[in-house]
Amino acid sequence: MKLVGLVGWRGMVGSVLMKRMQDEGDFDHIEPVFFTTSNPGGAAPAMAKNETKLKSATDIAELSKCEIIISCQGGDYTTEVFPQLRAAGWNGYWIDAASTLRMNDDAVIVLDPVNLNVIKDAMTRGVKNFIGGNCTVSCMLMGLGGLFKHDLVDWMTSMTYQAASGGGAQHMRELLTQFGTINAAVKPLLDDPASAILEIDRTVLATQHGMSLEETKQFGVPLGGNLIPWIDKDLGNGQSKEEWKGGAETNKILGRTSASGNVIPVDGLCVRIGAMRCHSQALTIKLKKDVPLDEINDIIANDNQWVKFVPNTREASMRDLTPAAVTGSLNIPVGRVRKMAMGPDYISAFTVGDQLLWGAAEPLRRMLRIVLD
Ligand code: HSE
Repeated sequence: MKLVGLVGWRGMVGSVLMKRMQDEGDFDHIEPVFFTTSNPGGAAPAMAKNETKLKSATDIAELSKCEIIISCQGGDYTTEVFPQLRAAGWNGYWIDAASTLRMNDDAVIVLDPVNLNVIKDAMTRGVKNFIGGNCTVSCMLMGLGGLFKHDLVDWMTSMTYQAASGGGAQHMRELLTQFGTINAAVKPLLDDPASAILEIDRTVLATQHGMSLEETKQFGVPLGGNLIPWIDKDLGNGQSKEEWKGGAETNKILGRTSASGNVIPVDGLCVRIGAMRCHSQALTIKLKKDVPLDEINDIIANDNQWVKFVPNTREASMRDLTPAAVTGSLNIPVGRVRKMAMGPDYISAFTVGDQLLWGAAEPLRRMLRIVLD
């Protein structure tokens, strides 16, 4: 059995990955070695087999013994350790959730239900770096991949509604703390049916404005009862890095390059909202031609087993097309598909995905299985 190093398995994405690997029996096919940045020599988790002690995640010699390494440790770790490993001559498979290596020429972004051909071609060429994509991009392509595979997309805008978890575990805690602070401030007024709603509203606003630096440490401003129309770095050209990723990573996943002149423009605004762990997106898609709506629906619905096509009705959208409906599930619902007023080749769509599953952990464990096959 192949020796597989696991780094960052205790964090939020890593924990989701471990659970999925257990659920899918992945540990039956590997000899796991658990690495740690904080507790070398400590006890490895129950999935360990022969190696029951934790190894240091910066021990290049120990890491080098692994044929495959999966890291959910984050970008700083990748930046520090990956070059040392390769410089030491390690030629194993590096499977990583962090964005550090994503756009490198010698790396492929993995999302096999969408780009298995790109992954397989790269493996044949000897590529060894396989990196999970940006969560929003991966969830979008899992839902809309069919339209891209049929080469129907001329361009697309993606307006996102991204959950707190995209920032990390501390961000989720901060959101809930803020909701609690706001609720506590108006609880006596809420309990009094005769209280005035505008007084409640004023109190909420004053509470948001009065939040301490400690209570807004992660997001910088209150997210509870609010939204933040900027995610990740400012690229200095009016675009956020998250927005740039939408176009750059979508095309890279699909194997489309400027050199081959087949890049599809994908752009939009990325917005943080007060959802917990599902990213949603409203899409405007300019098709290359006028395709009947029932054909479009079929192409989307039949692309992969995880897409759940949601009929464009009020009831179905409210029931099935929300973060609360999707959290914890691998399903990617796609709904609100209709022709738009701009013309017959313009369609709208709305999709939701659990950003810790398809957006982070799932493509990594599936890549492991592809390497093992
Ligand atoms: N950048 C994403 C977010 C996280 O902030 O929501 C996952 O790629």
